[in-house]
Parts: sequence; structure tokens; C-alpha cells
Amino acid sequence: MQHSAAKLPVILTGDRTTGPLHLGHYVGSLKNRVSLQTTHQQYLLLADSQALTDNAHDPGRVRDNILEIATDYLAVGIDPNVTTICLQSHLPALADLTLLYLNFVTVARLERNPTIKDEIQARGFGRDIPAGFLCYPVAQAADITGFKATIVPVGEDQAPLIEQTNEIVRRINRQAGVAVLPEARALIPGVGRLPGIDGKGKMSKSQGNTIQLSASPDEICEAVRLMFTDPNHIKASDPGRIEGNVVFTYLDAFDEDRTGVEDLKARYIRGGLGDSIVKKRLNDVLQELLAPIRDRRRSLASDPGYVLQIVRRGTEQAREITEMTLREVRAALGLFAL
Ligand code: TRP
Repeated sequence: MQHSAAKLPVILTGDRTTGPLHLGHYVGSLKNRVSLQTTHQQYLLLADSQALTDNAHDPGRVRDNILEIATDYLAVGIDPNVTTICLQSHLPALADLTLLYLNFVTVARLERNPTIKDEIQARGFGRDIPAGFLCYPVAQAADITGFKATIVPVGEDQAPLIEQTNEIVRRINRQAGVAVLPEARALIPGVGRLPGIDGKGKMSKSQGNTIQLSASPDEICEAVRLMFTDPNHIKASDPGRIEGNVVFTYLDAFDEDRTGVEDLKARYIRGGLGDSIVKKRLNDVLQELLAPIRDRRRSLASDPGYVLQIVRRGTEQAREITEMTLREVRAALGLFAL
């Protein structure tokens, strides 16, 4: 599309539209997406249909977060002239591909998918799992192959979904007798998952331990104030621990002054450095990181028509591409064309 002259490798990734994005998304993927967009043909999928597979009781949430997330993308520096932002539910070819692929997957295989297994347990579904949820890996295979993406930047927990996608690709190609679809590989970020401010697990909206990209200066201050450190570091003169100390984990993730961080660590371990000084540094770093994002967010929010138009235009471009793939797959399989 935008890069029609040079054929760049195709990247597709997406987000379930269940809540606005936070700092965990920023280090884990948004930052990468901003740099990858210049060297790759990048598609960002607002995965509202997938969000519905475990949020059918709350469609308003799925709806309201579509433009929120699109706004987050633009605020962190996604350039809509090089990255295509598109809406899953408005790409009917993806639903058609899903229906087709379902014939190439067994229920046993879906139930064995480690991502799904973990999620069934985490959500307490048991056997009462919505069929749409059990099948979402097939829909995700449709997302990936619909754009013929060969690189899929996702968290480690999603790697089994890429494996399942490639199994479907091989089955389709074998049945077709030609390589109509390419296989894809997961691009797993080098940095691990950012813990929540309570240090109890990954940053996640459902845990209430996040810092939103839209956080106000006061909200950032408060989050840093509450942040989990070393519970045994009571007096400033006590030697402190760095491991599991969220303030230092965040400094490692966000502070570009590496020598400064190493110096703080050494002083903290030795004893004589209070939490408040380390927290002050982190607060400064986060305020500086989030201020321009928040400002861009605010000016984008004052013109929702603009964000809507970006999503509309991206979805139209994506529609052409995914429909072309659907036609090719159907033809390769020798299905009827009217
Ligand atoms: N499953 C991804 C998530 O939970 C969202 C997603 C939907 C996605 N379709 C995708 C990711 C295709 C990568 C490729 O955030």
C-alpha cells in the first residue's frame, strides 16, 4: 500500500479492545511498533471481535475501547501514513477465513492449546467455555494469514497461537497443493513483562496495578508513591534489595541514564539511600516520558472525528488485502466462485 515501491516484510499485531493501554504495553510492544513501522509494512488490528469472545456480556466495553486504543497508538507515535490501523469486526474476509480454517482444526487440538488452557483456568470457564473463545486461535490464524504477515510481534504467552497458525497454514497448503499462505514467526520482545506497581504479577487492568498512558501527573506521582519496594528496607541506612523491587525494575525499563541507575543500585544495596530518593528519580523519568504522550492524547481526544477517519481509512485498505487473500485461498482449494 503505502510502501508499494519496495516490498517490505509484513508485520501484523493487534490488541483486544478491552481497556486503554498502559506502561506495560509501552515497553512490551508499543515502542517496538513505532520503530518497526519504518522498516516493515505494519498492520495494527483493533481486535474487537476477539475481545467479544470473553466479553459478550459487556459489548459497551469492547466498543468504547476501540477509539481509545487507536488514540493510544497515535499518541505514542504510530504514524497512520505508514502503519495501517484497522478494525477486525469490519473485515468480513477474516470471518470467512476463520470459518474455512475451522474445518482444518480439531476440537482436541484447540483444547490442547497452552494459551487457551491457561486462559480457561484463569477465567474459571471449565467446560462452560464460550465456543467463540475456544476458537479464537483460529480467528487469530485468519488475522495473521489474511494479511500474509510473516512476523508477528507478541508476548511469550501468545507463541502457541503462532504455532497453531502455522499448522493451519501447512494443512491448507497441503490440501491446495501450493504454498498459497506463508508461515509466520513470533517476534518476542527481549524485555520481560513489566510487573504491576504492587509487584504481585504483570501489569494488568483487572489487577488495578497499572499506570495508564493517559495518567495525569498526580496519578503518576501517586502510583510511584504506592510502588512496592523492599519491605525490609525500613530506615534509609538499612541495606536494600534490588531483586523484586519494582522501583528499580521500572528504572531499568525506562531510565536512559544507565550509569545513574547503576549508581543508585550500588548505594541502595550498600545502605544509606532512602526509597524516597529512588522514587523521586523514577517519578521524574515517568513524568518526562508520559507528558508528551498525554499531550498528544489530549489534542487527539479533542477531535475524535480524526481518529475515526484514520480507523476507517485503514480498515478500507485492510479490506482489500484480506479479500484478496480470501479469494486466493478459495481458488487454491478449488472452491466454487460465483
Ligand atoms: N491475541 C492478541 C492479544 O491478546 C490480540 C490479537 C488479535 C493479535 N489478533 C492478533 C495479536 C493477530 C497478533 C496477531 O492481545
